[in-house]
Amino acid sequence: MNVLLLGSGGRECALAWKINQSESLDNLYIAPGNAGTAALGTNLPFSPLNFDAVAQAIIENNVEMLVVGNEDPLVAGIADYVKSHSALSHVKVVGPSQAGAQLEGSKDFAKAFMMKHGIPTAQYKSVTAENLEEGFAFLEAQKAPYVLKADGLAAGKGVLIIDNLDEAKAELREMLDGKFGKSSATVVIEQFLKGIECSVFVLNDDCGNYALLPVAKDYKRVGEGDTGLNTGGMGSISPVSFADAEFMDKVVTRIIRPTVDGLKADGISYCGFIFFGLINVEGDPYVIEYNVRMGDPETQSVMARVDDDLIALMSRATQPGGFGQSFTVKALPSYAATVIMTAGGYPGSYAKGMEIVGIEGVEGSVVFHAGTKFDDQGRLVTSGGRVLAVTSLGESKDAALAQSYANVARIHFDGSYCRRDIGFDLK
Ligand code: AMP
Ligand code: GLY
Repeated sequence: MNVLLLGSGGRECALAWKINQSESLDNLYIAPGNAGTAALGTNLPFSPLNFDAVAQAIIENNVEMLVVGNEDPLVAGIADYVKSHSALSHVKVVGPSQAGAQLEGSKDFAKAFMMKHGIPTAQYKSVTAENLEEGFAFLEAQKAPYVLKADGLAAGKGVLIIDNLDEAKAELREMLDGKFGKSSATVVIEQFLKGIECSVFVLNDDCGNYALLPVAKDYKRVGEGDTGLNTGGMGSISPVSFADAEFMDKVVTRIIRPTVDGLKADGISYCGFIFFGLINVEGDPYVIEYNVRMGDPETQSVMARVDDDLIALMSRATQPGGFGQSFTVKALPSYAATVIMTAGGYPGSYAKGMEIVGIEGVEGSVVFHAGTKFDDQGRLVTSGGRVLAVTSLGESKDAALAQSYANVARIHFDGSYCRRDIGFDLK
């Protein structure tokens, strides 16, 4: 099978690595990819938002399966575009319709969906310039801290957690005034939930069944002890000690099943990954957010543990009738630990073009690329904030982490930074 994967991050490098191991793979294309995916398939230099280029690449390369790694093309409607294009209608698409992608593309839509289908989530109020006073009243009725979320996609920056009521009111006004452009023309105000988070992933078949993937936890803050600014993710661990059988039973019954059934009941076509960003509040799971793709850097740890053929799984999800029944994907019993190496200064401003050396000396870990490229002289250089993900398996969380950190020490680029405490809050 020929597969086209859209995206260019560490998540896509991990998906490409796993797809590349599939028995049924003939050719893998990644658009636009990075220096790491270039070793796993053929990079194609166009943006996933350029749907005509996607169509042309599918036709020229006899692509039979399209895997959409990142949310932007899904929210822009790539799945519907491919299915409605007469020359592409045979292509298996892993990624939801534009309507389904609203679970991530609009927090207001996601909250209304959860309310309608009885899925546990924080209480909320959606506010626009028209009902600002109601927004203030809702804030006044909450206890600190106050949670404000831009409705639309805001590149991971649209969530503010504020300790002071007056500041929260001022921020609400600024957001509605365009702080995040059109994304914050509607703001979702939420009750603050206190607990520990984890990321649950399923591959949904659009026929009422799903495959449950290994659970992971990511570390979003730049500083040790979960301090400092939010980032795209500084590391991940799988499995997650508190996501035990009892907790996962609740997740399946209260969250996954009603989501999958709710999509069907609402006539929303959704064949693809669903990412449930969950918070464990005294043993009970609540949904913090939905994403319509895999997580980054959770995918790196999840794919390291999946003990099944990814193309075979995705083929079964996309075939008529789907999986036939829901099941848990086979996973290695090992722990996986991913440590992200970033450019110095990230998530603030940072330099690009630093030469990366030492990857060939890595032993016993996989190095997934994120912000990397080959420069004009063919040197491997940094081209983004999150540069590399070093992923290892081990018999324990600590063994996996020790392996990743030992290999981080073998890789060099000027200014490189990583958090030293990934997994600190897990057993
Ligand atoms: P989101 O982009 O919705 O995942 O939000 C980013 C981060 O903000 C989450 O990973 C949580 O750590 C935090 N957060 C979002 N909503 C809430 C909430 N209702 N209560 C507590 N923390 C939250
Ligand atoms: N790791 C969180 C995300 O991918 O959104």
